[in-house]
Amino acid sequence: MRYRHWGIASLLLLVAFGAVADPPPNRQTELETLLYQDCGSCHGMTLGGGLGPSLLPERMARYDVTAITAIILHGIPGTAMPPWSELLTRQDAAWLAKQLKKNSPTP
Ligand code: HEC
Repeated sequence: MRYRHWGIASLLLLVAFGAVADPPPNRQTELETLLYQDCGSCHGMTLGGGLGPSLLPERMARYDVTAITAIILHGIPGTAMPPWSELLTRQDAAWLAKQLKKNSPTP
């Protein structure tokens, strides 16, 4: 019983801070594949840059997770960066954004 209440309390805390929960582990694996294969086709196989700029943490430092999430979902109009909202949920995009901000987003 007590544990159950803690669960609800932490859920409320998450909601209060506007945090988006991580997708389940199997979805995370799919998203990692998408990151290196699909995003990598423009941003470089190791995300170091190609047609699109580097997505490595040094460059991502200029954006917060919310901004990167929005870029992924809506793309950058007028450029080759496409919107991903048909394929990715906000939760997926937020998780990818968090991965990009991490120091070593290796597969
Ligand atoms: C068809 C090619 C293409 C694909 C696929 C693509 N991008 Fe991009 N992306 C671009 C281009 C080109 C830009 C730079 C647009 C500009 O001129 O500002 C960009 C910009 C970005 C930026 C902003 C980078 C910055 O420093 O300004 C982020 C973040 C980003 N892409 C993430 C992603 C992610 C994550 C994926 C996969 C879900 C993805 N992109 C897939 C072409 C692509």
